[in-house]
Amino acid sequence: MKVLKKQNKTALVTGATSGIGLELAKLFAQDGYDLVIVSRKQDALDKTKEKLEKWGGNITTISKDLFMPESAFELYEEVTSKGITVTILVNAAGQGYYGEFINTDIRRELSIINLNVCSLVTLTKLFANDMVKNKDGKILNLSSVASKTPGPFQSVYHASKAFVQSFTEAIREEVKDKGIVVTALLPGMTNTDFFNKAGMQEAKSVKEGEMADPAEVAKDGYKALMAGDDKVVSGFKNKMRVVMSNILSDSMLAGNMYNRQKPESHTEADKSTKEKTEMTTMAHKKQGLNKIVNKKSQPVLKAIVHKKDELNKAMYRKAKPVLKSIMHKKDEVGKVMRKKAKPVLKGIVHKKEELSKTVHNKAKPAMKTVAQKKALLHKIMRKKHKPAMKTMAHRKSSPVLVKH
Ligand SMILES: NC(=O)c1ccc[n+]([C@@H]2O[C@H](COP(=O)([O-])OP(=O)(O)OC[C@H]3O[C@@H](n4cnc5c(N)ncnc54)[C@H](OP(=O)(O)O)[C@@H]3O)[C@@H](O)[C@H]2O)c1
Repeated sequence: MKVLKKQNKTALVTGATSGIGLELAKLFAQDGYDLVIVSRKQDALDKTKEKLEKWGGNITTISKDLFMPESAFELYEEVTSKGITVTILVNAAGQGYYGEFINTDIRRELSIINLNVCSLVTLTKLFANDMVKNKDGKILNLSSVASKTPGPFQSVYHASKAFVQSFTEAIREEVKDKGIVVTALLPGMTNTDFFNKAGMQEAKSVKEGEMADPAEVAKDGYKALMAGDDKVVSGFKNKMRVVMSNILSDSMLAGNMYNRQKPESHTEADKSTKEKTEMTTMAHKKQGLNKIVNKKSQPVLKAIVHKKDELNKAMYRKAKPVLKSIMHKKDEVGKVMRKKAKPVLKGIVHKKEELSKTVHNKAKPAMKTVAQKKALLHKIMRKKHKPAMKTMAHRKSSPVLVKH
């Protein structure tokens, strides 16, 4: 796949073997630029060179560790010694480092400052001088939306990007009348190896956040640089974030970032610590409240019990004579009842006896007749069935004959 138009111009891209830097390098290659690509690992550079060569430009690889302050100077020397004039400089190499500042490694943080700040400043100075002399040149610095907010858990990284942003805007103003364009590209979270290198996998924002496509981010940066813009924030959400960062106070932004960037384990720990604290506070409050209630209610309760006793006593006192008279009346009634009922009961018993006698007397002849008739019936039955009974008794005693 060859390019339509060769530029005969060279773009130098640091961090060109991966992520946004690689995508930018591709765009330059597609547009017919020759390239100097820079990163630490030669094998990665060789692979990238292979990818980029298909567009037909000259690709030079230079392996440099830009963590080292001297590397930027060496890089410049190597490029010029090869007779290459850099018309476009892209400072894409950069790294983050995740963690609570009190626990992180200061050596690594100083290296991050060397890479993100010192090397970028050095390369910008050295190549910008040549560009001014040639009255031609463009510089694209990889800033970040991180430059707009303080970044708890990435304090050094955010600060380094704030430096890049401020520095880029300042020198842009200085060189804008000298035919040089200086542009800042501000991506938000982009799907690259950045977060692995930074050890950020546990960050809430990385676990839950949406990531931009590095190819899209690179296109935004490329377009802005070619248009001569001062900066471009890549992506609508990030644009909104930057607008908000201009409105909110730094402490609010820092608090918000703290929540977005804290590790998930931190979130759980925070939650359980918060819950525990809330429960302890509630238990304490309940205990305190109980004590107050006990203290205040005890005399009231005592008074209630006392009043109840008094009332019972008064009731008992008032009810006693009433109860006594009731019992007395009950006894009297009982006596009267018994006296009045006695002759009535006697009369009833007498009448019951008379009635029994009358019934017995009247039923007696009828009963006799029934008994006589029953005895007669038995006699007749016995006489009629006697011969049949005899035959049956005889059959039962004689053996049975079986015919074969
Ligand atoms: N990804 C994001 O969410 C994001 C957001 C905003 C801004 N940015 C910025 O965009 C830039 C590119 O990052 P990326 O996301 O594309 O990361 P990346 O995929 O990790 O790419 C980083 C590139 O820089 C090179 N590099 C790293 N350390 C270096 C060193 N000490 N010396 C020389 N080269 C080095 C890497 O190659 P080697 O490791 O082989 O050296 C690689 O080519 C960075 O400046 C970053 O701060 C990224």
